[in-house]
Amino acid sequence: MTATAETASRPLANDIGNSHWLPFTAMRQFRSNPMMFVGAEGMHYIAADGRRVLDAMAGLWCVNAGHAQPRIVEAIREAAARLDFVSSFKMSHPGTFEFADRLANVAPEGLNHVFFTNSGSESVDTALKIARGYHRARGDAGRTKLIGRAKGYHGMGFGGLSVGGIGRHKRDFGPLLPDVAHLTLPYDRSMVFSRGQPSTGATYADELETLLQINDPTTVAAVIVEPVIGSGGVYPPPVEYLDRVRAICSRHGILLVFDEVITGFGRLGRTFASQALGITPDIITCAKGMTNGAVPMGGVIVSETVFDAFMTGPPEVIELFHGYTYSGHPLACAAGLATLDVYEEFQLFERAAAMAPTWESALHGLRGEPHIVDIRNIGILGVVELASRVGEAGARGSQVAQMCYESGILVRASGDLIVLSPPLIIEEDQMGQIVDAIRSAVRQIH
Ligand SMILES: Cc1ncc(COP(=O)(O)O)c(C=O)c1O
Repeated sequence: MTATAETASRPLANDIGNSHWLPFTAMRQFRSNPMMFVGAEGMHYIAADGRRVLDAMAGLWCVNAGHAQPRIVEAIREAAARLDFVSSFKMSHPGTFEFADRLANVAPEGLNHVFFTNSGSESVDTALKIARGYHRARGDAGRTKLIGRAKGYHGMGFGGLSVGGIGRHKRDFGPLLPDVAHLTLPYDRSMVFSRGQPSTGATYADELETLLQINDPTTVAAVIVEPVIGSGGVYPPPVEYLDRVRAICSRHGILLVFDEVITGFGRLGRTFASQALGITPDIITCAKGMTNGAVPMGGVIVSETVFDAFMTGPPEVIELFHGYTYSGHPLACAAGLATLDVYEEFQLFERAAAMAPTWESALHGLRGEPHIVDIRNIGILGVVELASRVGEAGARGSQVAQMCYESGILVRASGDLIVLSPPLIIEEDQMGQIVDAIRSAVRQIH
């Protein structure tokens, strides 16, 4: 096919046809003004109209090393030509073992076995199944209950949805898993405009003890929390809160799962939030930044104790009846290995830690601007919360996001929250551009 014929047969960037049903999108509204990108590089997207747009969301909390990172691109290219696919059921390839070892090396001490999935949702459902399987393998099959948290987001599988705490996500799809309870959000209005972790609020963790007494702690398999609630609105944990949750879980023999799909791979200045916050869970779920978003992949990293519980019985019998066709996909492993190289070579996690105070100051510089009722931040994560207009929840958020976009900055509106999670390669002046765009927008809306 000649270049001309090829170009002619390809739809125009804004000709979106009729077939595609997008996730989490108001389809009919999208059709009227589709936001389309045709390229990306470093901190920027290239929009269909040719504009360069500063990506203040790292894609969707995943492109931590910036877009089209040359080393990652090359690794994927090379892997695709060498070994396109091999099953992980009863066979494998070297890349998957190498990547698992590399991950185990950078994971918190004692978490050293990795199960590969293809997304955060699959990682969460896998972790919940492993938690139940662990107790059963130890002769404690009565431990099946799960505890999540209000505003928690754990993906869209029925397991993740059940432990998740965002009501609107669940409303249309019940019944969900039985025997799930939720902790409340450890946040109240006394904490607004906290810089980083709120200094009060550790006692919210004591509610877990109450919940366990109501639900019989000997029947609970796992507690799952995001160390920093992400999609639910970027809520850093109060100082000492997670330490207490950890202690209560340990006291009752309950597994603690940290869902690090967002916080993993540098957001808080370490590989995992667990390390940044100094609390070691029994299981970590991850995805997103694991491959810099370049190839879909997720993982579940478990402790030696959890893994060993399964490694009993006759050696020829499968220990975990679970897995996905694309678990440990060669392209994903190649992307993941190159991603870890890039994180290390450019010291991006150390960079994130060093830039976090600048990020914090930039965001909190918006305090006092119209409609802004809270600003929360930790690491290179942040949210600007707007007061909702009466009877029009979400209207201010989408207006601000649209205005930012028109001025060349991509932010994410979640209702009236302006969510920010830029690539870790962000420069100080780009932080300023993001904040300026938000300031200008909130000053113009009513
Ligand atoms: C904490 C957390 N868990 C799970 C998920 C689901 O990940 P995925 O969309 O890759 O299934 C997300 C997605 O944003 C997340 O933030």
